Amino acid sequence: MHVNGMTIRRFASPASAASALARHIVRCLASNPNLVLGLPTGRTPVPFYAELVALFRAGRIDFSRATTFNLDEFAGLAASAPGSYRAFMERHLFSHVNFAARRINFLNGVAPDMTAECLRYERTIARAGGLDLLLLGLGANGHVGFNEPGQSLVAFTHKTRLTLATRQANAALFRHRVGDVPREALSMGMRTILHARRIILLATGSTKAPAVQRLVRGPITPGVPASFLQLHRAVEVWVDEAAGTRLSAGGE
Ligand code: GLP
Repeated sequence: MHVNGMTIRRFASPASAASALARHIVRCLASNPNLVLGLPTGRTPVPFYAELVALFRAGRIDFSRATTFNLDEFAGLAASAPGSYRAFMERHLFSHVNFAARRINFLNGVAPDMTAECLRYERTIARAGGLDLLLLGLGANGHVGFNEPGQSLVAFTHKTRLTLATRQANAALFRHRVGDVPREALSMGMRTILHARRIILLATGSTKAPAVQRLVRGPITPGVPASFLQLHRAVEVWVDEAAGTRLSAGGE
């Protein structure tokens, strides 16, 4: 189904969405082994990463020439800190498959100069030829990456303050202590995101249904950063039954 120029794909369960997405990546890498991939963190992509690991173990996928850029990282956390997004990616994907270490790119949450770090990230993405395929999750409050709802949005990679809702949503990485979740983060900006050649946003579970509805059918507003994806020419929104419940009326 197509709504507001976006392709919506619906799956019976989070597991079937995850395995379809992993098989899609197999095809993308087969046709372009040098794929430049943007990657998200969060609970949503965990089954997808597990599928990628299984496909790698089955000899069906080779990441050796691919390049990755993660969307965001907490400010103040070193890559080795257990709560960091870098540590999350190591746990769920990187340590199990064969990406070349030098082609894994991450924002450095403890860079001495955050402005310079954000610029470095933008330049590295540009030098890699831009993002071929950016995979996104969706915040229940409509955020993408760490572009939080507000009066305005930021174009390029930047440092941002996290909302309480987002810190609560990330508390599991910090033994459920919201107070331990960093208050600031570094994130690709909306321009960085919208300049990816293709985008696939994955949203599963009933808690995401209102945000999916606003992203797909709502007005484009900084109050729902994901609504800006309506401006992109090649975006797909992949949802399971529960996340897609509010989309039913009047497709195509
Ligand atoms: C986090 C990340 C986002 C992610 C979102 C959803 O805060 N910064 O990139 O998409 O929250 O997370 P989850 O999949 O756990 O719901």
